[in-house]
Amino acid sequence: MKLFYGRSQEGPAMNKRAIPFLPMGGIFDQDDVSAANSVLQQACAETGNFFPLPEEILFQEALAKHEGAAKAVAVNSCGTALDCCMMALGIQPGDEVVTTPLTFVCTAGAVIGQGGTVVFADVDPLTLNLDPASVRQRITPRTKAIIPVHFSGLACDIEAFDRITSETGVPVIYDAAHAVGAKYRGKPIGGRGKASCYSFQSNKNMTCLGEGGAVTSDDAAFAESVRQKKTFGYVYGPQLRVVTIGFNYRMTKPQYAVGLTQLAKISRVIAMRQRAMRRMNDLLRDVNEVIPPAGHGPDHGSHLYVIRLNTDRVSFTREAFIKRLKEEYGVATALHYPAVWSWEAFAALGYNEEKAGCPVAAKACKQVVSLPIFPRTTDEDCDYIAWAVKQALADLKG
Ligand SMILES: Cc1ncc(COP(=O)(O)O)c(C=O)c1O
Repeated sequence: MKLFYGRSQEGPAMNKRAIPFLPMGGIFDQDDVSAANSVLQQACAETGNFFPLPEEILFQEALAKHEGAAKAVAVNSCGTALDCCMMALGIQPGDEVVTTPLTFVCTAGAVIGQGGTVVFADVDPLTLNLDPASVRQRITPRTKAIIPVHFSGLACDIEAFDRITSETGVPVIYDAAHAVGAKYRGKPIGGRGKASCYSFQSNKNMTCLGEGGAVTSDDAAFAESVRQKKTFGYVYGPQLRVVTIGFNYRMTKPQYAVGLTQLAKISRVIAMRQRAMRRMNDLLRDVNEVIPPAGHGPDHGSHLYVIRLNTDRVSFTREAFIKRLKEEYGVATALHYPAVWSWEAFAALGYNEEKAGCPVAAKACKQVVSLPIFPRTTDEDCDYIAWAVKQALADLKG
């Protein structure tokens, strides 16, 4: 159906279509299927087994190299990666951990899981990453860790966090769930801070058959503590020892095999995403009602394309905008993220906006809208999405 909007100021009318928010953030091809099939076939042979896992070692080595870290320990999710890091740091009741409110629940949940207290610091208004200056104001003698998130795939101000660690001794664990392949000043991020936690869940830029995660670190002793937490506290040797209370956070053999094929194409996936995101930034640059995301240069991991509805300039709500985009123009969106304190489980623990005192994050959490940009998003898709954004804004302005 050809549409014509007589009052449109936003360029020629476009054919309406549906742009879904895909559940798969990367590219899953025949090479991934073949890798999974081949290990399954080996495992199912009469002499085969699901153990030992040479693919685990190969995946960990490849990931460590790719992310510029001395060590990588693969686990079954980023949630468990963060849990292992909190355990390896010995977080316990009375300890405080500083993090961002603009994140997925498990960044903060990992702290609470160990009995610790989450202290929210504010974000930078441009990048939406944790603001090191705000973090400094939150540090007390009880602060045992800082967890910045490389939000959307854009690396945090790592040097500023390095300075905080060298001045205060507080270690930094990066939540790099969005950031496989991201760089900081042209270099991989996985060896920075005490450790970095990655997600390979299916909507990320690469996946290990739907779930997966890893901890990378330059600190071999810390990586070993994480490895023990992942595998029942085992230390292998002539005699098996159990040296700490540990758990089973392992992935399966086909997942490690697919992790290798996914890792081999992550640069291509990121380049495809970056291209679409740069185009979106160009298309939305002059739209005063939205704030496009910062910094889609070559270092950006480009996992999410998060715009903000400039609520200072419009009289309608973000929810009305999202509804109009979907119902009138077929463009699906997602929310990354409601503020952590706004979830009922965190509210029940006493966390709230007022207590957190993070005005920039509080506002951003009510403005963010993630647009559906994926590796195979074409120029035409970008043009349509940008047109739909402008149309929806014009409709709502009346
Ligand atoms: C910032 C952030 N941290 C952690 C996670 C958890 O990742 P996983 O699903 O692998 O546990 C996510 C997942 O979306 C995330 O966005």
